Amino acid sequence: MSRPEIQVKDLRKSFGDNEVLRGIDLEIGSGEVVCVIGPSGSGKSTLLRCVNLLEEPTGGRVLVGGTEVTDPDVDIDAVRRRIGMVFQQFNLFPHLSVTENLTLPQRRVLGRDKAEAAKVAAENLARVGLSEKADAYPASLSGGQQQRVAIARALAMGPEVMLFDEPTSALDPELVGDVLAVMRRLANEGMTMMVVTHEMTFAREVADRVVFMDAGVIVEDGTPEQVIGNPGNERTRHFLSRLLDPAMADVEEEGPGRADRVDRGDRGPN
Ligand SMILES: Nc1ncnc2c1ncn2[C@@H]1O[C@H](COP(=O)(O)OP(=O)(O)O)[C@@H](O)[C@H]1O
Ligand SMILES: [Mg+2]
Repeated sequence: MSRPEIQVKDLRKSFGDNEVLRGIDLEIGSGEVVCVIGPSGSGKSTLLRCVNLLEEPTGGRVLVGGTEVTDPDVDIDAVRRRIGMVFQQFNLFPHLSVTENLTLPQRRVLGRDKAEAAKVAAENLARVGLSEKADAYPASLSGGQQQRVAIARALAMGPEVMLFDEPTSALDPELVGDVLAVMRRLANEGMTMMVVTHEMTFAREVADRVVFMDAGVIVEDGTPEQVIGNPGNERTRHFLSRLLDPAMADVEEEGPGRADRVDRGDRGPN
């Protein structure tokens, strides 16, 4: 593996007496793309949120770019600047234009002046294929376009790693492909990425590694061919078979519309 960019060591997180992460060990190399899959409630979001300290771990250590972010004396703001995060919900400011949504955090958090922030905003809107929407307001954009703006907003901060938490799960199926295409391009540019997703085609084609989580532990960690193509563990096989056959889906675990996305493929431009 190349230089480790994210190191997670015996990470534990409890909410009250509910132990949600039960000793997670994971290393992600610089430029690596790791997809995290697993049933609802298995701790995927909590893992991502512990990496950028949106949640405080109960035990273990997390290092990003060699800096221990779980060190009590760490500068949390400095850590967060190195880590971009994209959520299922885009959380754009509705009263600000697309460009203003990208310049505001740069100016507030990084202290960039207006011209510099606007220049970086334009570069990153081009990166996600939305230069023509610079002056538009979020409400006039499709969900897929709004998510691409959210990705550009994160990129404009110059992160070293990008975390994605089910970035396409809230989108209508026909809008998923364009967002995945942007993420695929980012992966090809060498961004270090940790992606929680149910998009198995994306995971197969883009991920260097796939991690399967269940009940707060990593059950399998390997290449996509190993984990998706030829899972060694019964829990992984069970999870994948339910994704592929929605009729088998546990009602409380799989929302509607999720399973039918499996192996549909990315439709957007590559
Ligand atoms: N802020 C919180 N307070 C209490 N329990 C939480 C909180 N966040 C997550 N949990 C619990 O942690 C478990 C794992 O949740 P989560 O990490 O969101 O799983 P996943 O993303 O895999 O669906 C769930 O049982 C959830 O109810
Ligand atoms: Mg989640």
